[in-house]
This record gives sequence, C-alpha cells and structure tokens, in this order.
Amino acid sequence: MPQRLSSKQVRADFNDLRAVVHYTRAAHRLGLWASELKVFDQFLPQQKTARILEAGCGAGRVTLGLWELGYKKIHAFDFAEELCAQAQSLFLEREVGKAVTLFHADARKVARHPVVTGMSFDAALFMFNGLMQIPGRRNRRAALRSLDACCKPGAPLIFTTHDRRHSKLERKLWERETKLWLTGRQDPALVEFGDRYFEDDLGRTFMHLPVREEILEDLAATGWTHEWDAMRRTISRESRAVRDFSDECRFWVAKRG
Ligand SMILES: C[S@@+](CC[C@H](N)C(=O)[O-])C[C@H]1O[C@@H](n2cnc3c(N)ncnc32)[C@H](O)[C@@H]1O
Repeated sequence: MPQRLSSKQVRADFNDLRAVVHYTRAAHRLGLWASELKVFDQFLPQQKTARILEAGCGAGRVTLGLWELGYKKIHAFDFAEELCAQAQSLFLEREVGKAVTLFHADARKVARHPVVTGMSFDAALFMFNGLMQIPGRRNRRAALRSLDACCKPGAPLIFTTHDRRHSKLERKLWERETKLWLTGRQDPALVEFGDRYFEDDLGRTFMHLPVREEILEDLAATGWTHEWDAMRRTISRESRAVRDFSDECRFWVAKRG
C-alpha cells in the first residue's frame, strides 16, 4: 500500500532536478507577477528598511523582486536545500549583499531557528501557494503559528492559495473527488480531502486546495486577523509567461493580532 504523503517527500520533490530547473528559471527570468506587485504596494510597509521574512523562497524569485523594489532587510528561507543553493548563487550573481539573509529552515519551526531568534519582523510572506504544499492542516497551522511568533503585532502576512470552488470545472472535479473519499477509493497517498498529488514533466507536486472558510478558520486559530483576500484575476491581468508558470490563485492578507 503506498505511504501517506509526508513533508519529507514534498521536500524531496522540490529537490528533484525537474523542480529545481523550473523554479530557478522563474527566479532568473520571470520576476514578480503584476498582481504580486500590486498587493505588495498596497500591504507591505512602505519603508524600505522594514524587516521582511519570506517563507518558501525557492530559488529566490520573490526575494529578488523585493530587493529590486528597494527592500534592504530581507530574510528568506526554504526547506529544499537544492533550491536554497540556486537562490544563493542568484543572489551572489545579482550582488544583493547584506540586503538578503538566506537560510535553510522548515516553516513549521522557523520561530526556533537561530537566524531569527530575538528578531521581530515587520511583514511575512509565503508566496505562490507554498503554505498549501505542507501536507496536513495541523502542519499548515504550525507554520502559521511559527510565522506569527516571528512578527511584530500588526505585521501583515501575505500568501496565496488555490480555491477549490473558484470555477465550475474545479467544483465538478471536487464533486467527483468527494465520491471517491466517501467510498474510500481516494489516492491513498493523500492526507486530507482537498489534497492533490500529481506528476508531470516538472516533477511531482503536492498541493492542498482549500475553500475560503478553511483559511479563515486557520488564520483565526493561529493568531492572525484576516484583512483582505481576492482572486488573482480580479487584481491584475498577468502576462502569458506568468499564466504558464502559475494558474489562478487567491491572495490573502492577514495581520498579526
Ligand atoms: C511553489 S514553490 C514557490 C517558490 C517561490 N516562492 C516562487 O514563487 O517561485 C513553494 C516553495 O515552498 C517551499 N516549501 C514548502 N513547504 C515548506 C516548508 N514546510 N518550509 C519551508 N519551505 C517550504 C518549497 O520548497 C518551494 O520552494
């Protein structure tokens, strides 16, 4: 019987060459999405000296974008060693210097990491659905709590998720999936209803697709106050390259209580 998916497997999938090439290419060529730029402009602190903590930085796409926007106190981390190595080489090449501190950590435990001990951040980010790539709601909540513990009161947390009710097609797919779960015929690797685990030419991808109410509950249970959310298509039109890299998602902004 195939084993239930674990964070260890997800980390191995992100360290897989196919994923590393994909995220490294995006970090070098794609930059920030139009919607990310708008949301950062609206919700990140305006002062470029603000301390920003970025979870799941991958090969550094968002980190580099923040640096290009002028932010000079960025701490970025990822739990996939191969992606951290790619981010490191990109930051060296672009000469970001001391503006970016890159470290290796798991979001569920980041508050206990020596690099951030004693620090208090003005904002936290977990972009491009990274939070939803943590299997198990308990673990996603642990990550939210850990980010909360790293931030100052009032600090924004910005992240994205999918939404399994966002389109007719998606709702149909989940109706079918409901039947599988009710009869115990779901993929045995999945941890919870809403999970997806698939393989394509970019490697294996785990993703939990929530409904909006679930995220509202998770924020409330972990010290965050919901501030704003919207589907990406309502925020900005994205280029073809961005749409090829990433499908529709919901942006979230919460504030540390
Ligand atoms: C979809 S990728 C996005 C990468 C990058 N932020 C970007 O937008 O190109 C999600 C990232 O989250 C990271 N991630 C997933 N679970 C994590 C965890 N528990 N702790 C730290 N990073 C994690 C993955 O390794 C991956 O780099």
